[in-house]
Amino acid sequence: MKKTIRKCIGVLLIVALLCGGGMTASAGYIEDSTVFRASCTVNGDTATQRGFCWYTKTEVKTQIRVLENGRDVTETLTLADEQCTAWEGNYMHKITVKDLKSGTEYTYQLMGDAGWSEPGSFRTDDGDDKLSFIGIADVQASSLENFMKGVRTVSAGLEMDPDADFVVNLGDFTNDSTNEEWDYYAEAFDGFNSGVTLAPIAGNHDGLGVWHWFDNLFCLDTSESVQTLNGVNYSYDYGNAHFAVLNTNDALSLSLAQLKWLYNDMRSTDKDWKIVFMHKSPYTLGKDGKWPDALYTKETLARVCELTGVDLVMSGHDHQYLRTKSLKLNRVVGDGEGVTYVLAGTAGSKRYEIRDFMLDHFITLDKLAALTVQKGGKDDTGFYHQCYLQDGSLDNVDLNRIGGVFNNITIEGGKLTYKAYVIKDREEGETEDVITEIDSFELTKEPGENKIGYTGKNTTSAFEYALLLIPSFLALAVFTFGNWFPRFLCMLPKLVYTVITKDVF
Ligand SMILES: [Fe+2]
Repeated sequence: MKKTIRKCIGVLLIVALLCGGGMTASAGYIEDSTVFRASCTVNGDTATQRGFCWYTKTEVKTQIRVLENGRDVTETLTLADEQCTAWEGNYMHKITVKDLKSGTEYTYQLMGDAGWSEPGSFRTDDGDDKLSFIGIADVQASSLENFMKGVRTVSAGLEMDPDADFVVNLGDFTNDSTNEEWDYYAEAFDGFNSGVTLAPIAGNHDGLGVWHWFDNLFCLDTSESVQTLNGVNYSYDYGNAHFAVLNTNDALSLSLAQLKWLYNDMRSTDKDWKIVFMHKSPYTLGKDGKWPDALYTKETLARVCELTGVDLVMSGHDHQYLRTKSLKLNRVVGDGEGVTYVLAGTAGSKRYEIRDFMLDHFITLDKLAALTVQKGGKDDTGFYHQCYLQDGSLDNVDLNRIGGVFNNITIEGGKLTYKAYVIKDREEGETEDVITEIDSFELTKEPGENKIGYTGKNTTSAFEYALLLIPSFLALAVFTFGNWFPRFLCMLPKLVYTVITKDVF
């Protein structure tokens, strides 16, 4: 209940900032803050560990203070991997906290330029078979105004499910990954992040031009990551679910090394539910679905997921909401027999039209269960800027579906409930949020049926990674010429027509 109240206060603060003219950059935010860009993330065992990363303007000793019921318990904990590193004009701090008690609510403070920060909070996993989380994707903002719209969207999710165990951000936190944009991100999201455990996923915009941006924003367990140059892959358990986070900034989006890691990772758990988070989408009608890496990812990832009993894959990148039916080897199967893929919409303001020229060549409508495009309206040419599909049709227009998307997933034993919502963009003078459910589905299963099939180490040496790059590139080259190119040629007339008539590529 305490956590619920604090989260509600956080949401109210964000709303107050939005209503109070906080739409322009407040140059003083970073200067006035003792720490900034602070996050508490999953890091290994979610019942006993958390990772913390934060920034300061000056070089100060990396320290954390952890409190339980107001009592400082830091001395009873193990603190590991502390680091303070100069990075892009600031100082980046990381620390891993171990030996926490399961099912316990903690507050924490971080050491900054002017002493301890305001308290943040988190709650450890209690190990039962119930959990819930909020998912967003692609805030991808450059201005404070658009970051604030993103945080309003995810705050609406937390208002709906105040006891959510964690928040997953499916990538593209910023547009250009500059210091200025990460400062805007901090100004908008720091208050929100202080009350949640975050599971961050690297997007292709999170590190443009400068390597290691993503790795330097979050304190994650990278011990099994195949590389950390531009994004990381990792996994964790929460409740009766196992989550694997992929890094689609890897070679060819997903290198063979990372696919091998996923294959081993998913066989090394007997948790009831297996869920994959990634940035780029295997199934999409957005603009990036037409390229070889998207099709290659779909074909390769699908096989690993289906071989290892993955239930759900959540992704972002293409700025629309799309859900497939249950699929096995790219064919529709009965509910619970295959993998459900969700492109989780965008929480940001940049939204994509449907590229309908891809239909029949890269994706077919019969595989889709739900689709919402979060922008526009239908234009004079009949092009669908905004529509949804629940019944096989592509032309249901509902203006309430123009806005940011958040996803709320609840697991209780053998039942997974997925709901997705749009929070309508406010028109001038509107002060109330209009939230519309755009999708809802359930997956069910008999708990206790997954068995552990792999118990070895799941690390990849730099040598092995480099060695696997050769067959990775060969596999993509063969796939591109043998599979993708013929499809692209068949699609080309319709693609050219769309470019000429609708100016959409
Ligand atoms: Fe992206």
